[in-house]
Amino acid sequence: MSMSQSYTALRPEFREALKEAARLFPTPFYAYDLQVILERLERLQKAFPGAEIFYAMKANPRLGLLRRLLERGAFVEAVSLGEVYRAYKAGFQRNEVLLNGPVKTPAMLEELNRIGIPILGLDSLADLRRAIKMLPKAKVLLRVNPDLPIATHDHLATGRGESKFGILPEEVGAALEQARHSHLEVLGLHIHLGSALEHPEDYSAGYRVMDELYRTHGPFQVMNLGGGFGLGLDLGKVGTQAISLARKHSAELWLEPGRYLVAEAGVLVTRCWGVKRTRRNYLLIDAGMSQLIRPMLYGAIHPVEPLYKNPLKETYDLAGPACESGDVLARDITLPEPQEGDLLAILQGGAYASSMSSNYLDTPRPAELLWTGQNWEVIRRQQTWEALLEDEL
Ligand SMILES: Cc1ncc(COP(=O)(O)O)c(C=O)c1O
Repeated sequence: MSMSQSYTALRPEFREALKEAARLFPTPFYAYDLQVILERLERLQKAFPGAEIFYAMKANPRLGLLRRLLERGAFVEAVSLGEVYRAYKAGFQRNEVLLNGPVKTPAMLEELNRIGIPILGLDSLADLRRAIKMLPKAKVLLRVNPDLPIATHDHLATGRGESKFGILPEEVGAALEQARHSHLEVLGLHIHLGSALEHPEDYSAGYRVMDELYRTHGPFQVMNLGGGFGLGLDLGKVGTQAISLARKHSAELWLEPGRYLVAEAGVLVTRCWGVKRTRRNYLLIDAGMSQLIRPMLYGAIHPVEPLYKNPLKETYDLAGPACESGDVLARDITLPEPQEGDLLAILQGGAYASSMSSNYLDTPRPAELLWTGQNWEVIRRQQTWEALLEDEL
């Protein structure tokens, strides 16, 4: 299934800057265009006027990006203790961090007590009971599983009844009852329908579920409608509905966009190192599943832009360097025939690329660079060989 319906070409200035970066840094590397991130943030703020934006930092948690978003008034959504540490390090205050996630262990809650308790998104009755016991005065939201047939890849459809997320609508009343008999401060309810959603109807259906729950169990101070905005989604349509729903229930509107903000701002830059024919035609490149797992994980399709020219064209599969037959970043793409060392930019690499990267096969994590419009800022150094081994005894 295509996870990438729309495709925006690189800005010419950024494209040129990438060639310059490739002279300064070894490939592969990730590179981000700050202007695109800020422009996406503005688009969201325009489509959802007045909404509080909790950037889903799992999409890309680099401190250099978080600080930029903080400066522009965004907050963050975290899903692990590590992300909470990171958010505080970036400078977010406790009330600017929302911690979701399906499993919050006692050790995690104990540590939150020590470092500062963020707003908690409670995902199950077990989560609720543990929060009442261990963080009795926390501000919380309850995550609802709206039990809807969300149209996206199975791994991304968190709002389906069979997913592991949230509390089913029919159990929300009892959960609220428990929460309201405790000292927790219940701010409101939360849904996150899934990721890479392209159909406004999925949002309309989710919003109907929230409408009913707010009518039955409200009022609440906050309505958290999650993220999941696909790159081609009609944001205006979704925004209008979200705003009017929150207004109807006199609630603050909260959102948790990840991919929409950063995906198209980022690329993974790789070099071509040869062509090889088996029963397929492969272009051998120096980036693979260690830097970009999405194609292998859920069939994501990433557009590819060559940073070189040749009038002769050929159709290739892009073969990464891992000893895994699934390590193919794109299939059947037509490119100018490359010379050894020519550069490719793998697009839509700003979200869930670096954050899902791994050290598989002792591959050091690549450098991450931010194009400010004037210069390249290194926001993460390339990992050293020493760092790869440092935790081993
Ligand atoms: C609870 C929650 N909120 C927000 C997001 C962000 O989703 P997206 O990057 O698709 O906007 C996710 C993604 O997994 C999530 O689980």
